[in-house]
Amino acid sequence: MVYLTRVERFNAAHKLWVEDWTEEQNLATFGKCANKNWHGHNYTLHVTVKGKPDPITGFIMDVKKLSVLIKEHVVDYLDHSNLNLDVPFIPKGMQPTTENLAVVIWNRLSEALKPYPCQLHAIKLWETETIYTEYYGE
Ligand code: NI
Repeated sequence: MVYLTRVERFNAAHKLWVEDWTEEQNLATFGKCANKNWHGHNYTLHVTVKGKPDPITGFIMDVKKLSVLIKEHVVDYLDHSNLNLDVPFIPKGMQPTTENLAVVIWNRLSEALKPYPCQLHAIKLWETETIYTEYYGE
């Protein structure tokens, strides 16, 4: 099995907030991500697929096609969006943390990759240079 990763980037705004909590509780839990007037992150998304290289092309998947799929199904919706308000496939009320976003992105891409011979292996999502989440579909 060989693994192939495509890296994409997007910028988006969000706010982590629990309506039933006080502002103090929200700030204590979410820190600057609870800023009432929103803020943004420069996200980096790694999408890894796995499979056997095709005997003729040597590809698991045409990586340009993978890039197009990621853009069409994920990045075009998320880039320059407000993750709390704007994205049709992010459930209303779901905290737009990297953990939850990784699962949502997995669900979108595993569906989009169904016609292809490779399988989705991992979603890795960086919110800052020092924090990222990984999801393997389990
Ligand atoms: Ni934040």
